[in-house]
Amino acid sequence: MADARRIIIDTDPGQDDAVALLLALASPELEVVGITAVAGNVPLSLTERNARKICELAGRSDIPVFAGAIRPMVRDLVTAEQVHGKSGLDGPDLPEPSMPLQQRHAVDFLVETLMEAEAGSVTLCPLGPLTNVALALVREPRIAPRIREIVMMGGGFFEGGNTTPAAEFNIFVDPHAADVVFRSGIPLVMMPLDVTHKALTTASRVAAFRDLGTRPAVAVAEMLEFFERFDERKYGTDGGPLHDPCVVAWLLKPDLFSGRACNVMVETGSELTMGMTVVDWWDVTGREKNATVMRDIDADGFFALLTERIGRL
Ligand code: RIB
Ligand code: CA
Repeated sequence: MADARRIIIDTDPGQDDAVALLLALASPELEVVGITAVAGNVPLSLTERNARKICELAGRSDIPVFAGAIRPMVRDLVTAEQVHGKSGLDGPDLPEPSMPLQQRHAVDFLVETLMEAEAGSVTLCPLGPLTNVALALVREPRIAPRIREIVMMGGGFFEGGNTTPAAEFNIFVDPHAADVVFRSGIPLVMMPLDVTHKALTTASRVAAFRDLGTRPAVAVAEMLEFFERFDERKYGTDGGPLHDPCVVAWLLKPDLFSGRACNVMVETGSELTMGMTVVDWWDVTGREKNATVMRDIDADGFFALLTERIGRL
């Protein structure tokens, strides 16, 4: 096998983050160099603990987990316990982690790793608000050309928003951080709601995880059965969108997705549309195409990949 692709996952677990982490840890094509936790779905004290719980669920207590930003760069933190539960990982009963949290701050880890690693050898995979990534870019701008690619879940355009009519949660929580990242010039692959809303955790897809019978797979089924209920009620669908694993699935099987290079800018001035990702899908502005925006997914292929890989843990 070719050398594994080196990635750092920045995350706010979150049940969908947890499934993305498990997919990455089950896939030999990827080397998870580290996991950096950020405040988002729930406060940082819980997202960092949940990240460690998931590493232990995957039998990977060797993965270093770092705590990062406790709040967005400018705005107050907005969390989503109504979706993820008070713990941020409601559903399965997972034991408290015994693996330690790393002492270094996540932003220091990002900067030091990117400055020490061969340029272009590390991919960042943000699954939550972009606060850690933006702080690292502000702290040490020299990391920007050293990052191979940023493959992120966030934003929305034709699908609108899920937190306000205009804004998706990750971008809404820290629009200023998102603005830093989208203006950075770093190659960017964006998984917006336009694609994640086509990846629904239908009853048969959740049953496929449970039928695997392994502890990680049953825990995934329990996470999804909790996580999906908010969106099922909101959208009236069978299952809810499975957002964050789209990032890792793209790294493993990019042909599952389709999209195009677009200019994307982030609203940081208007309270009405704060955090909106303005995607120039029809190239009417002629502005630089700073992101590859995904819009379609082979959902059956996506869940087949997820089920097969989670079954390996
Ligand atoms: O809007 C969906 C995103 O917000 C996902 O990353 C979910 O985990 C939450 O962070
Ligand atoms: Ca997330």
